[in-house]
Amino acid sequence: MSTSSDTLSFTGPFPHIRLRRNRRHDWSRRLVAENSLSANDLIWPVFIIEGENQIEPVPSMPGVFRYSIDRLVEACREAHDLGIPAVALFPRTPEHLKDLEGSESANPDNLICRATRALKAALPNLGVICDVALDPYTTSGHDGILRDGYVVNDETVEALCKQALVQAQAGSDVVAPSDMMDGRIRAVRECLDAHGFIDTQVCSYAAKYASGFYGPFRDAVGTGGTLQGGDKKTYQMDPANTDEALREVAIDLEEGADMVIIKPGMPYLDIIQRISSTFKVPTWAYQVSGEYAMIMAAVNNGWLSPEKVILESLLCFKRAGAGAILTYFAVDAAKRLQQLK
Ligand code: PBG
Repeated sequence: MSTSSDTLSFTGPFPHIRLRRNRRHDWSRRLVAENSLSANDLIWPVFIIEGENQIEPVPSMPGVFRYSIDRLVEACREAHDLGIPAVALFPRTPEHLKDLEGSESANPDNLICRATRALKAALPNLGVICDVALDPYTTSGHDGILRDGYVVNDETVEALCKQALVQAQAGSDVVAPSDMMDGRIRAVRECLDAHGFIDTQVCSYAAKYASGFYGPFRDAVGTGGTLQGGDKKTYQMDPANTDEALREVAIDLEEGADMVIIKPGMPYLDIIQRISSTFKVPTWAYQVSGEYAMIMAAVNNGWLSPEKVILESLLCFKRAGAGAILTYFAVDAAKRLQQLK
């Protein structure tokens, strides 16, 4: 009569396929890793203010600051030394320079243009990305020109072209329209080309959703109050939609975008995955201010461990197919990655 242990010795121990074998040792886990994160994947968004020797904390984004141009150069030197390829610049425009049309956006000596010139002079090998949208400059807080309560498309696109041109003239490597007007990528491309800026890259915020996760950013650039509870739903995308994001990307590529951004990031990994696998073009993700604030709030309460969640949150973008990530954690993450080496 066979015992149950006899039976086991014939069939072998259960189970014979063990996925945990590959996970047992660190060297093995590293060999079987399908994705990885490095400083090369990171773009650091930075806020700029007027003045000298100024560093101002952004209350809703613990650990994030607004820098005057001199301090910006210093902070970006650190980012550059850590291997971060590029920074994305966002100005906090003094209120007295704002108007209904956002005309300060086309001033060749505005804060962004001066910051760009200073950065390119000090750190020529650090990529500079400038946001193209009117919200830092309009009294309405909208990304475009408001007429009878509606952001008008074509007139805004003309203003965006002027804005992109002064940014390119200041030395910006990449201009990044984040306004969601129709037709602006082609218009900006043609305007740059006509003025000889054939090598200035155009990065389209192609799939940008009307999201609640931008709240802390609006505090940082001082547009939250002016928007007065209003929203951007007549030009930014409905969070309910996926197919429409593919259409936005297809059109912007056709119009000449060199790369596309999806925004926000973590709640939209499905969109990143679908766009990167459909188009096979440089696809960047923006882990936006509200995502940063959410993580930092939990970290500062002791509810999440920064050692674990920061790099994990960024690696997940790589898994979803993003080639690069705009993140307020860029400098912190680059330091953590260096320590892991
Ligand atoms: C505006 C712009 C926004 C962000 C980047 N560019 C905010 C908005 O659309 O209201 C948000 C970035 C963030 O939340 O980190 N053109």
